[in-house]
Amino acid sequence: MSRTQNIVIESVKTVLGWVPERWLPGGTPDPLIMRRGAVGRQVSRLDGPLKVGGQARFAAEVAMEGLCYASLLHSPVTRGRITRLDTSAAEGAPGVILVMTHRNMPRLGTLPLISVTNLGAVGASALPIMQDTEIRYNGQVVALVLAETQEQADHATSLIGIDYEAAAAKTHFEAAKASARTPASILIEKNHTVVGNPGSELAQAAFQVDNLYRTPGNNHNAIELHAVTLAWEGDTLTVHDSSQMIAGSAQALAKLFGLKKDQVRVLSPFVGGGFGGKGMWDHQIVAVAAARIAGRPVRLVLSRDGVYRIVGGRTPTEQRVALAADSDGKLAALIHTGHSVMPPYSACPEQYTLTGRALYRAKSYEFVQHHLDLDIVPNTYMRAPGEAVGTFALESAMDELAHAMGMDPIELRLRNEPETHPLSGTPFSQRALVQAYRDGAARFGWERRQATPGTQRDGEWRIGMGCATGSFPYARMPGASASIRLTREGKAIVSCSAQDMGMGTSTVQAQHAADRLGLPMEAITFEMGDSALPSTPMAGGSSQTVSIAAAIAAAADKLAGELLRLAGNSSPLAGLRAGEVRLAGQTLVSIQDPSRSESFQSILTRASREEITVTAAGSAPLEMLKFAMHSLSANFCEVRVSEVTGEVRVTRMLGSFDCGAILNPKTATSQFKGGMIMGIGLALTEETLFDARSGRIMNATLADYHIPSHLDVPEIEVMWTGIPDPRSPLGARGIGEIGITGVAAAIANAVFNATGKRIRDLPITLDKLL
Ligand code: MOS
Repeated sequence: MSRTQNIVIESVKTVLGWVPERWLPGGTPDPLIMRRGAVGRQVSRLDGPLKVGGQARFAAEVAMEGLCYASLLHSPVTRGRITRLDTSAAEGAPGVILVMTHRNMPRLGTLPLISVTNLGAVGASALPIMQDTEIRYNGQVVALVLAETQEQADHATSLIGIDYEAAAAKTHFEAAKASARTPASILIEKNHTVVGNPGSELAQAAFQVDNLYRTPGNNHNAIELHAVTLAWEGDTLTVHDSSQMIAGSAQALAKLFGLKKDQVRVLSPFVGGGFGGKGMWDHQIVAVAAARIAGRPVRLVLSRDGVYRIVGGRTPTEQRVALAADSDGKLAALIHTGHSVMPPYSACPEQYTLTGRALYRAKSYEFVQHHLDLDIVPNTYMRAPGEAVGTFALESAMDELAHAMGMDPIELRLRNEPETHPLSGTPFSQRALVQAYRDGAARFGWERRQATPGTQRDGEWRIGMGCATGSFPYARMPGASASIRLTREGKAIVSCSAQDMGMGTSTVQAQHAADRLGLPMEAITFEMGDSALPSTPMAGGSSQTVSIAAAIAAAADKLAGELLRLAGNSSPLAGLRAGEVRLAGQTLVSIQDPSRSESFQSILTRASREEITVTAAGSAPLEMLKFAMHSLSANFCEVRVSEVTGEVRVTRMLGSFDCGAILNPKTATSQFKGGMIMGIGLALTEETLFDARSGRIMNATLADYHIPSHLDVPEIEVMWTGIPDPRSPLGARGIGEIGITGVAAAIANAVFNATGKRIRDLPITLDKLL
């Protein structure tokens, strides 16, 4: 058994407590892959009308009796300690209820960090929160003020007298290399991995490229700011949060504040964007503590600046990619190594070398990531963490190699397409990247691309085309559960603590439940966004849809079994065993002999039951052990670059995806396009400006941190192979993060094709092109 398999089994054990022998490895295809009704249809978001009509209550909009408002004070120094703290003026200011600092903040432990062996954890930082006078990063929360109004709280915060003694801080990327750490593993992969002899292959090959690529820090800018509205009632705590980790957050708060699991309830039915940033950060914890001291419900909404100060983002990277090829374009060496920032108190290793391990067949490989310790807000997951920036380097390098060889860059990729997972030899569950490229190239008009850079122009504009591959690993998380309540009238209420950050979770699971239960969609109510419901893992790693689907499938199986038991001996189904029946069209039907059936209504009436409720946990994700599974994309891009200003305009983009079955073309299209737009930001505009002298982020506003706006975004086309993955629930793989993956390289490659200038430093701003 491979190391990967061991780690997956370990994490299954951690969550479920045990792993039965029969789970190792097996699994039959999901019957719903071939049998669909609501799944696959263009269903509009069920929560759309609530949002458009203003009835959807987001965390900062929940009304509470006696609510007060919180404001935070952040440290302007990076390392050091508080030497003077005078809260008297703030305490005496109008409307002030409480000033909380390390002096009166309750003594709390720290959060367990999210990891592959602790998937239920939500901690993005292991640093203490307002426990002492020490300052550990610039922006750290040093005080919280509660007042009757937000304005009073903000004003009183400005009256806090505080002095710091600054100490030397680690803020220089380059200087930190001297003490870089090289961890043993990157997520579930062995970190330093060498196959064959890449050094000598590189030296001897007919063609080689060997370059450094740099990507800057990026910050989270979900449209909805991080916010909580919360209240204590005796020893029970209710938290309305904006969260992609509902069940885990409730557990974490219970642990921190010494409560039982059922004494904490976290609700988050609507989330205005998450992208990896809506986990648990210091603001929820200080707000809970302040509400307890004050005995009042509290609302805390981070300012946009506040999000930059205490919520981490994408870490900067410096990556080396070296590729060698023989004269046919077969890869002889693939080397991907580098440095990124990951303080020891953070959770996200920015896994930029993972893609290269799974994408191309090569004669030799080397991968290793080194972590730099800087005194910064803990970095975290941000849409395709690792893959988004890793594919910029790897797929730029492939384009450079193709150019060096005079070969079409698609052809170079197809020549190195692996038959099985290139490192482990594990079979792919389903892989049609070649088809995604062929179909995408035909639709995009790739044949019109000029092979020689800088040869196509229109007045001051140079025009170019580029392509790049994206690859994102499939994941299904263990520990998802769901319940189904079926009524005699044929209505089903499906419940779990799922998160919908706008991507369509509730819509797609309602479609799924309809098909799984053999009911029309109108008969399904999908309840989610509440930790009091059966718990499901976080929405992360593009894994939520299949994780929940497996739980609902298990609950549906259990429901069928329970109905069969209730049907008893006078039913036409008498004598059949669970597993020999299925739910269809408001009836329970024999799989073997469909003429034997009985309606739900008849079964429940005879048993004198109004309804029946079951709860079940999804099967262990064995498919991950037995198969190599990845969502894939072929990205195409056309740019115009002004010779006068250096400005880059993306004029066309097309994403051709191979991600298994597409469950709802409408919501999936939005997911893909949203990812691609975020890719435009990564490539062209987004950059966290970090002042290495002060350790402070300089552009913590939407005015200075440039996310793509409408004028930056062209017409985007998406298409997909739609080939179901025979190994996953519903035949689906993740679609949340593949959209951004590979986009930055496609844009950089198009810029090269337009201008002949190779930019290896994101973002590609105009100064780099003049
Ligand atoms: Mo994602 S970065 O797993 O929300």
